[in-house]
Amino acid sequence: MDKVIIFDTTLRDGEQAPGASLDLRQKIQVAHQLERLNVDVIEAGFPISSDLDFKAVKTIASEIKKPIICALARAKKEDIDAAYKSTRRAKRKRIHVFLATSKIHMQYKLKKAQDEILKLAVDAVKYAKRKVADIEFSPEDASRTDLEFLIQVVEAVIDAGATTVNIPDTVGYATPEDYGKVIKFLLDNVPNINKAVISTHCHDDLGMATANSLAAVVNGARQIECTINGIGERAGSAPLEEVVMAIKTRRDFYKVKTSVKTRELYKSSRLISHLMGIKMQPNKAIIGDNAFSHESGIHQDGVIKERSTYEIMKPEDVGFKESKLVLGRHSGRHAFKVRLQQLGFDLDKTELQDAFEKFMQLANKKKEVYDEDLRSIIEGEITQTPQIWQLLNIKVVSETDKAPMANVKIKSKGKIYEAQATGDGPVDACYKAIDQIVKSKGKLISYALESVTRGKDALGEVVIKVRFKNREIVAKSSSTDIFEASAKAYINAINKVLFSGKKK
Ligand code: KIV
Ligand code: ZN
Repeated sequence: MDKVIIFDTTLRDGEQAPGASLDLRQKIQVAHQLERLNVDVIEAGFPISSDLDFKAVKTIASEIKKPIICALARAKKEDIDAAYKSTRRAKRKRIHVFLATSKIHMQYKLKKAQDEILKLAVDAVKYAKRKVADIEFSPEDASRTDLEFLIQVVEAVIDAGATTVNIPDTVGYATPEDYGKVIKFLLDNVPNINKAVISTHCHDDLGMATANSLAAVVNGARQIECTINGIGERAGSAPLEEVVMAIKTRRDFYKVKTSVKTRELYKSSRLISHLMGIKMQPNKAIIGDNAFSHESGIHQDGVIKERSTYEIMKPEDVGFKESKLVLGRHSGRHAFKVRLQQLGFDLDKTELQDAFEKFMQLANKKKEVYDEDLRSIIEGEITQTPQIWQLLNIKVVSETDKAPMANVKIKSKGKIYEAQATGDGPVDACYKAIDQIVKSKGKLISYALESVTRGKDALGEVVIKVRFKNREIVAKSSSTDIFEASAKAYINAINKVLFSGKKK
């Protein structure tokens, strides 16, 4: 059975999702999880785009052993040099060069004619090939590219040394029928096509990224580019969990396989969702909270009698299981450390000590500590954003028919500051008090509060999006006290914006 290569671009295209940026430590954590998931290729970043991306690709290239580590580059020498330098240490490396080929992009964005584009593409692939054997080329906006020109480009880049040719549906314009036809047309008409793997890269603007990727596979594509939870530019990309589970569940139809360890899907999805602060809708295919819940009596009865009546996949096959009760007040440091390692966290000594203290505080407030609780408190612990401002105390008074009031005490550089404010609601009052001290002018764009696990004593997790001038920052925090979680999330957002300002 033919294998379809799973090329994960969560750390590159996925990270282009609005507000989804990760710090270095988080990117490395994601790369380790992708390795456990057993994807074939990790597109670790776009090294020329920022020092952080360069460093992330470089670190991932030296730490991750099994998958191919890929770096993105425009068809420019300086981009290719950065891609090469950052991936040099990888056991298996790939440079991914892209250049737009559609009429719209060539005319308005690049202001170049077809022959100039063809030459730039060939020169870039030849230049990259001198450094690395494994070269991917993407004619950006391929699905809106003139087919005769697309044939010319694909043939020329393969001659120049490209070993994978990706056919991006950059703007999510394709339909399964026409995208599948493009793939077939290339396979039937490009003379040297058997020297390269044809890849798909579909965006979800019309909600067809999964269907388009699979239509391409039916027509001969053997690599799918995708992201965990389908995150990415605008409406996102093809969700890895969907394409992989469609191929696995409908092996009878697709007649191909992937190497993905599907039991790692749920964990991967939760990790990305937590780190990026992007919640999944409950009815999201494969990994949504309701993906395996049966509500109607008829369905429940059917599943009890025979699971396959209403379940086409087993929840355990995607790693979907009830959040397990893991630890409590009497759990020791060793058990705590082991459980964290099982959840994919590798903390140094100081982080472990701080995390253990937080866990103990939580275990004293809350009898049962679940995996999700641990994740929530630990992710706060391993952030690379320095705690420039730190919450010391918060008091909120809220009474029917009276304006709520918040008193906030926060610390910075050893100095303690206190302020009081009233607001439209208790959270508003609290944010106004913080603004007074920090002199920040954050505008709250969104605020979401969710309980991390079950029960009245559950941790409340607050995820907020705040706009500071023209930057949007996503931040979160959790606590059994929702006002404390709200205040901490806001302070985290302020710290993030101050830290990124300093980095510049
Ligand atoms: O969507 C797109 O065209 C891309 C390319 C860089 C492959 O992300
Ligand atoms: Zn893309």
